[in-house]
Amino acid sequence: MKATARAHTNIALIKYWGKRNEQLILPTNSSLSLTLNGFHTTTTVEFQEDLTEDNFFLNDESVKGEQYDRVAKFLDLIRLRTGKEGLYASVRSTNEVPTAAGFASSASGFAALAAAGTKAAGLEMSSQDLSRITRQGSGSACRSIYGGFAEWRMGDRPDGADSHAIPVASAEHWDIRVAAVVLNDTMKKVSSRAGMKRTVETSPFFRGWIESVPNDLKEIKAGIAMKDFEKVGQIAEANCLKMHATTLGANPPFTYWLDTTMTVMQKVREMRKSGLPVYFTIDAGPNVKVLYLPEYEEKVKQILSDIEGVTDVRLSKVGQGVTYL
Ligand code: ADP
Ligand code: DP6
Ligand code: CO
Repeated sequence: MKATARAHTNIALIKYWGKRNEQLILPTNSSLSLTLNGFHTTTTVEFQEDLTEDNFFLNDESVKGEQYDRVAKFLDLIRLRTGKEGLYASVRSTNEVPTAAGFASSASGFAALAAAGTKAAGLEMSSQDLSRITRQGSGSACRSIYGGFAEWRMGDRPDGADSHAIPVASAEHWDIRVAAVVLNDTMKKVSSRAGMKRTVETSPFFRGWIESVPNDLKEIKAGIAMKDFEKVGQIAEANCLKMHATTLGANPPFTYWLDTTMTVMQKVREMRKSGLPVYFTIDAGPNVKVLYLPEYEEKVKQILSDIEGVTDVRLSKVGQGVTYL
């Protein structure tokens, strides 16, 4: 009744932004991501007869409150499947990624929890089953079950049976790299969950966002298949800007960006003008992820590190899906 699993974070090239069902975590649009080998979570789950409630340790510290509730609620889903309603678990997790800072810790965190939790409970699951249940921990996490490029198909069934990720291309398909430009790795003020909820409910730009995603998704998949870096980069960058634009239309308005976020974006555009093929994307946080090809690694790292306000530049290759340790 004990298992350990590891999952990597992923960076969305086509963003998931908006839920049509908050309870089941069903999205308003399909999304597509790249799993990163540079950031991961390792989680051990052990169901124990003598426990009267779940306990959760993150980076060796006991966690209570909202973060605990999310984990316990997720374990309830596993208990529901196994019929072992009164059986509680001890969860120990280590994030090799800043928590709640826009580096997708909820993706690696819930993918690792789902993999370890279902295995510890003795559930036999296909990757697709695992992706579907993982989705209910954190939407973006359902894509981290797979390595390489993964698409989360929104589905159209009210029960969510057809809402899960599928592999689009393996990690071996294309050696594309991502530099995570760290500006601020402290916890964000508006969680992804709260941010997208406010946007769906109040932003008049939300409709435009939703209408524009299907074409971006179709085009980027063609770009990935052809390994057309410019095409993939252009679509990812534009899709990211559209997502972030919706937050400015929300009530009350908000943005995840800092002044330094804009500085890095500007630098990326300058690099492109000078002939370096680089593109940016940004998740729900201030830190910028820069897409580049391996031959430009040294140059890209150098230029990004020299920007004032940048505290670290972490390089990632395309990562693998969940593994059991
Ligand atoms: P991020 O950009 O890091 O994904 P989110 O706001 O989406 O930020 O999610 C952060 C939340 O994900 C945390 O507050 C916590 O509830 C949950 N989380 C992060 N890491 C883990 C983990 N290893 N195990 C369980 N839950 C986690
Ligand atoms: C901007 O998956 O973290 O990173 O489903 O509420 O847990 P919940 O939200 P989360 O949202 C991620 C938003 C994003 C885009 C993306 O990863 O697709
Ligand atoms: Co998240």
